[in-house]
Amino acid sequence: MHNNRTTITQFIIEEQRQIQGATGDFTSLLNDIVTACKVISNLVNHGALVGVLGSAETDNVQGEVQKKLDVISNEVFIQSNEWAGHLAAMASEEMDEIYPIPQKYPRGKYLLLFDPLDGSSNIDVNVSVGTIFSILRCPEGVQNPTVEHFLQPGTQQVCAGYALYGPSSMMVLTTGRGVNGFTLDQNIGEFILSHPNLKISADTQEFAINMSNMRFWEPPIRRYMDECLEGNTGPRGKDFNMRWIASMVAEVHRILARGGVFMYPIDNKNKDKGGRLRLLYEANPMSFIIEQAGGMSTTGRERIMEIVPKSLHQRVPVILGSKNEVERMISYHLAEQ
Ligand code: F6P
Ligand code: MN
Repeated sequence: MHNNRTTITQFIIEEQRQIQGATGDFTSLLNDIVTACKVISNLVNHGALVGVLGSAETDNVQGEVQKKLDVISNEVFIQSNEWAGHLAAMASEEMDEIYPIPQKYPRGKYLLLFDPLDGSSNIDVNVSVGTIFSILRCPEGVQNPTVEHFLQPGTQQVCAGYALYGPSSMMVLTTGRGVNGFTLDQNIGEFILSHPNLKISADTQEFAINMSNMRFWEPPIRRYMDECLEGNTGPRGKDFNMRWIASMVAEVHRILARGGVFMYPIDNKNKDKGGRLRLLYEANPMSFIIEQAGGMSTTGRERIMEIVPKSLHQRVPVILGSKNEVERMISYHLAEQ
């Protein structure tokens, strides 16, 4: 039985065989990303024992205080992915500017965007965190990519994925042919296919939103939430359950596992910034995964993956998850206009 287990490497190689003209570059790039996530998983697991908890006493470009593990995970990602010759440049939540591949290494045809440690406010309290990544093609003929080469809509993503460092470490991936989940077997150091072809139920009675922002919400979100909270005495005629982990990776993972909706909408508090979550390395990769699993992802007013990005660290409102609930929220936004 154990010989029949599919490792993530085997899975990726078999996927690549279906793609005409694939050279093995992409497989190799994904392998390096997987290695980086295994290293981060190991650091997260050991926590205080290896001195990685606490603040780094620096701010990132978003003005957020960086945790030691934010900074370390960013370095791990760079070191794992800069040398092999598959990438032309990288960009991360933790770096103001893009990171061109140093001249001493060969340059490749892909661009890598990542949030090395999402939900990092959870680190010091030993709650789930994750890594999110998105792979784009570097435009043909571009040797020295600049920021504008990264400003591609989410529909152009070649691959998106996340690693969740929870009770078990998992990797969830899409290359546009469905969504598959792998669980890290710590004993052999391999991610093993454990959740093939993940699908999100169209209906749900579970929502995730930071309720402390209620007084800042716009009318469509207020309406949706009021109706959920009225439960079986209101227009929805059924009771809802709530979860808020403050870690988008864990939230999206729960939705893949048992349905639900996750919202970080635009509100009067984050309006000036355009929302809370970042388009290129949080919202787009998660939207690709959600859509590939049969769910939907929108700002309330437009499909997230069709937004043409204007800047590297651009923020967007996010509403994603079970199709029928997301469609309902879109209809509430339309009704407001
Ligand atoms: O990186 C953004 C993030 O940490 C998400 O993972 C999470 O969903 C959200 O911020 C939590 O926001 P808040 O601090 O408002 O609960
Ligand atoms: Mn994040």
